[in-house]
Amino acid sequence: MEVGDCIVIDAGSASVKAGYSGEDTPRSVFPSILDEGGAEALSGLARSGGRRPESVECHFENAAQHPIQHGLVAEGNWEKMERLWDVTFGRELHQYPEGSSASGGAHGGLSVLLAEAPGTPAAARERAAQIMFETFKVPALCFFNSASLSLFASGRTRGVVLESGAGVSHAVPVFEGFALAHAVLRSELAGQDVTSALAANLRRTGSTLGFNVVRDMKEKLCRAQPLAQPGTPAAPGPDGAAAPPPPADGKAAAPPGAAFADVEYELPDGTMVKVAGAWRGAAPQVLFGGRADQLALPQLVAQSIGMCDRDFQPDLRGAVVLAGGTTMLPGFCDRMKAELSAILPEGHLRVRKFAAWIGGSMFASLETFKQVRIMKQEWEDDESIIHRKSF
Ligand SMILES: Nc1ncnc2c1ncn2[C@@H]1O[C@H](COP(=O)(O)OP(=O)(O)OP(=O)(O)O)[C@@H](O)[C@H]1O
Ligand SMILES: [Mg+2]
Repeated sequence: MEVGDCIVIDAGSASVKAGYSGEDTPRSVFPSILDEGGAEALSGLARSGGRRPESVECHFENAAQHPIQHGLVAEGNWEKMERLWDVTFGRELHQYPEGSSASGGAHGGLSVLLAEAPGTPAAARERAAQIMFETFKVPALCFFNSASLSLFASGRTRGVVLESGAGVSHAVPVFEGFALAHAVLRSELAGQDVTSALAANLRRTGSTLGFNVVRDMKEKLCRAQPLAQPGTPAAPGPDGAAAPPPPADGKAAAPPGAAFADVEYELPDGTMVKVAGAWRGAAPQVLFGGRADQLALPQLVAQSIGMCDRDFQPDLRGAVVLAGGTTMLPGFCDRMKAELSAILPEGHLRVRKFAAWIGGSMFASLETFKQVRIMKQEWEDDESIIHRKSF
């Protein structure tokens, strides 16, 4: 099998995206969850209708199985993270980086590029480097900020990236490829909160559906509501349904003038359940309304731009890139445009699935990558190199 020289991994709270440099899409996208036994990264609860889901969100029932929570590997979870990487190389890619493939073939060794959540603590990077070099015998390694990679995937080196995955959202201004650390803002409002809001509404009807089923329902049926214009009276929405009730969290008022039709959803066992149109629009409201301790996503972007040098702000406002699975929510991009219209007069928002992974694949196939990756010998000579040579 012909493969690129580098294995690119974007491991998030809900899914691992892994594949080879130079390719357009990751070869494998699988849930970042370990079962009790630890040998398999997918437990029975994650299977829906016999098909493996792309991701499994973290919630209180299965939190212990998730090595990555809110985008970061928690202290005490490194053994699990190592097992997740082992599953990535062995079971998913059939290729270990050290110089032999799982099927027995030999190669000269593959570099590894790890997409890193913005604001990853130094200790976490040190631990990741140690596992990659010592356990997996990686010949060369590169850490790259996932937001900068997402921007790179859109063909730019200047702009603001709003990344919203399952467990964490970030607004990251990037200038000439480098994230401006002082203006990076983080919110723990992300996809799993949308699922929780939908689950809370379903529970009111006595439903006991598992979190993973509700996540699938969310991905298939939820939509971001358009922002009501000031003074617009509540009116039937695009599907003709009535205006929705306040969202489950009771904090973010649902805008009037938009609601969706009631629809049927097929459970893994074939049973049909009704999902109220109002819930389809109300659940994503949590992302736009914020919480007392977490910024709403439009504010994350606006405040992050505001923290940058005035001279850069026009460039940043002109290139807002949306990345991460939660931004795939239908209507998300339009809602963000409407929310930010005051500060993005010519704002142009772009969304791309697996943006960080694609950016990593593109970067790792450039000649420059060979100069910026950290060779194992360099790390052995001076471990602190991983902080000087990271992006
Ligand atoms: N079409 C869709 N509509 C709504 N949500 C979606 C859709 N597709 C994926 N998601 C959600 O996106 C999230 C997964 O996105 P992503 O893979 O970017 O997260 P992650 O990288 O695993 O997590 P994080 O970056 O937060 O650590 C999940 O919450 C998933 O339910
Ligand atoms: Mg992610």
